[in-house]
Amino acid sequence: MRPNSIAVLGLQWGDEGKGKVIDYLSERCDAVARFSGGANAGHTIVVDGQKYILKLLPSGVLHEGKICLIGSGVALDPWILKTEIEELAERGITVDGRLFIDFAAHLVLPLHKVADGYQESLRGKGALDTTKRGIGPSYADRVSRVGLRMADLYNGTRLEEKIDYVLSRHEECINKAGDESLRDREQLKNMLDELASQYEPFVADVAARVMELISSRKKVLFEGAQGMLLDVDLGTYPYVTSSHTTIGGLFTGLGIPPDCVGEIIGITKAYMTRVGHGPFVSEIEGKQADELRESGGEYGSVTGRPRRVGWLDMVALKRAIKANGIDKLAVTKLDVLDGFDELFICESYELEGNKTDVIPPNHPDFANARPVLTKIAGWGKPTVGINKFDKLPKNARRYIDYISVKTDVPVWLISTGSSRESTIIVEN
Ligand code: IMP
Repeated sequence: MRPNSIAVLGLQWGDEGKGKVIDYLSERCDAVARFSGGANAGHTIVVDGQKYILKLLPSGVLHEGKICLIGSGVALDPWILKTEIEELAERGITVDGRLFIDFAAHLVLPLHKVADGYQESLRGKGALDTTKRGIGPSYADRVSRVGLRMADLYNGTRLEEKIDYVLSRHEECINKAGDESLRDREQLKNMLDELASQYEPFVADVAARVMELISSRKKVLFEGAQGMLLDVDLGTYPYVTSSHTTIGGLFTGLGIPPDCVGEIIGITKAYMTRVGHGPFVSEIEGKQADELRESGGEYGSVTGRPRRVGWLDMVALKRAIKANGIDKLAVTKLDVLDGFDELFICESYELEGNKTDVIPPNHPDFANARPVLTKIAGWGKPTVGINKFDKLPKNARRYIDYISVKTDVPVWLISTGSSRESTIIVEN
């Protein structure tokens, strides 16, 4: 029997509005698990008019009593997580007894953030415009087999050896940074010892816990971070993050087999955005872009950077659906398009005079692709807050139908605003 667990994955460059969909679903689930990314993610959720931005805690944390799991695939900045836990506690939400962090999760250290900035400066014009949260350097230490993991906090001798090694590995960058405290091994050890006692109640074998939950027919929600186009292998490399944001990352990032996952839901905005550098075929600029950015509030939830905006790219969407085995779609921020008399959808690409329906595998080719656009009439009426499909204006319904017909995947949820109530569940 297929388990009743659900995976939620972003199909664009992150910021698809996953937080809201996950919040909606987590009410109906017993546990929520994060498997990749780190504090580079920012899931924005509005509950009773109050805004929460979660960077590391699974979004299910806002629902009392839900179990929250952080898998080994997450790049864990223990100081950011600590602040997040404390801030939620101040707002009356506690994680005691329901948060579990895998002992194999790698830590993001202060020097990883410095290394992130340093490596960006070395890239010069080819800079990726990272979030500077130390994500790349932490994952690099992991694959180089020198990273510090949660479990190391509880083994003094090994921790000291690892600290020495990691400090020597980043020596060049520490020298350039000119911050002497970064090479202070005692200080780092003390900081980590302090964290060890704070995190002790939370460290667990997350894989075993997820499997136990699944075998006792509990409903687990797997919460993706970032999106398909930022996947280190499947995305627009090198303008990607350093983790597997796609379905494969779920299994390795939690240590569970494929038969733990029931349904796979893909999230797409009704248009597209991207923060950071890299190809974006359907990008728009000028007045129309400014309108879209303003009406969608398209500024990074973690860094505040203005997001680049563009029309929905069906080539990228279809590829993301196939690569992740998406069963159904959630289309978010439909209401942001309300003010447009006419809209465009990118149907295919033109590359060196040829039309193509596939993403060019090479970054320079992708950067040179031009969008082949189809014009679609806008709906000219507000959709904000509508919670029934048949209440949507005719052209808005057409827009949704178009997405599901062209992708051959049903649209199951439509979001028409930031509140929990502004949600349409499409009955088939
Ligand atoms: P990093 O993950 O900080 O290394 O950044 C690599 C690229 O991924 C940059 O272009 C970031 O802007 C982008 N990125 C990382 N996390 C997110 C996210 O949660 N939403 C959108 N873009 C992201």
